Amino acid sequence: MAVQRTFSIIKPDATKRNLTGKVNAMIEDAGLRIVGQRRVHLSEAQAKRFYEVHAERPFYGDLVNFMTSGPVVVQVLEGENAIAAYRDVMGATNPSEAKPGTIRAAFAESIDANTVHGSDAPETAAEEIAQFFTDDQIVG
Ligand code: PPS
Repeated sequence: MAVQRTFSIIKPDATKRNLTGKVNAMIEDAGLRIVGQRRVHLSEAQAKRFYEVHAERPFYGDLVNFMTSGPVVVQVLEGENAIAAYRDVMGATNPSEAKPGTIRAAFAESIDANTVHGSDAPETAAEEIAQFFTDDQIVG
């Protein structure tokens, strides 16, 4: 199986509750390495661009408001099959459907305040990583 990179965001509901370390422990316990990480307060333009794919969805405005409501931690995660491995440990988007033992089952408050984001495919991972990291900011 190939070593892969994925993009992660620890969302404002988690930074507000000081959960960054606990989320990172679950990421590392799942066998993923945090090879890039920084804390940032997203601008409206950054959040709108990041969630552009959802621009026509009814929740787009609320999602942009939420993601700019406080600091986030943007991350690059590396490991075998990292995209699927991270989505497994994240759990379902809607926390009421997230399996026990997942990050969202442990910490998420609602479908938007759901603690973490993870890329869904290699192309989106590369595109999302490039929005926030230059090559020299990722140390494998
Ligand atoms: S979908 O329906 O499959 O496109 O949804 P998904 O890609 O899993 O997630 C969409 C992102 O939007 C956030 N969000 C919501 N999704 C669905 N319904 C509602 N009402 C909603 N509100 C917010 C959700 O948290 C996903 O964010 P990310 O950061 O991509 O996980």
